Amino acid sequence: MKFFIDTANFDEIKEAHAWGIISGVTTNPSLVAKEKNISFHERLKEIATLVDGSVSGEVISLDAEGMIKEGLELAKIAPNITVKLPMTPAGLTACSTLSKQNIKTNVTLIFSANQALLAARAGATYVSPFIGRLDDLGQDGVELIREIAEIFAIHEIPAQIIAASIRHPQHVTQAALAGAHISTTPYKVLAQLFKHPLTDKGIEGFMSDWAKKDQ
Ligand code: E4P
Repeated sequence: MKFFIDTANFDEIKEAHAWGIISGVTTNPSLVAKEKNISFHERLKEIATLVDGSVSGEVISLDAEGMIKEGLELAKIAPNITVKLPMTPAGLTACSTLSKQNIKTNVTLIFSANQALLAARAGATYVSPFIGRLDDLGQDGVELIREIAEIFAIHEIPAQIIAASIRHPQHVTQAALAGAHISTTPYKVLAQLFKHPLTDKGIEGFMSDWAKKDQ
């Protein structure tokens, strides 16, 4: 499983990129709106120049024609831009049109296996099931990843599964075990993945023993 970072914050992206673990970035309108005084297209350009991998920018139109127009504009920003589209009939029309033009697409807001199957058949490069938001409703988000992975394997469907709406480190392990190709993880959770008290304790021990070594 690969790591994408789920943020529009450039400092977070720069730091995670420097760790050498990031294969892509996802943004959404809410994440972009959190960033003050930025142009959406310029921020995507900046990210797509730094990160050598898929950078998702989401459309805000609700009709297919508007989504296609926006998608074509987004795709012009950089060759590694992926157009993110909502899981609606209009979103899938736009997905099908854009993928026929070799534009990469990410169908977002997926909450069922059937939605993932529809998105894949519309030519989506990526499908994004939201684990955390399903868990919030008392459903099992990770189980959805497992179902989609099984269906895609049975039918040899090439779309990649991005486990989205990741809330904590356990989600990351569970998504990997369930067969997600990618986990799009907020900066905070990525930073938590490094942590283990025994690692800290081990470093402390090595440093204090080294300080006692004969010169
Ligand atoms: C995915 O691409 C979305 O940007 C994201 O994972 C949404 O997560 P949230 O439920 O924490 O808003």
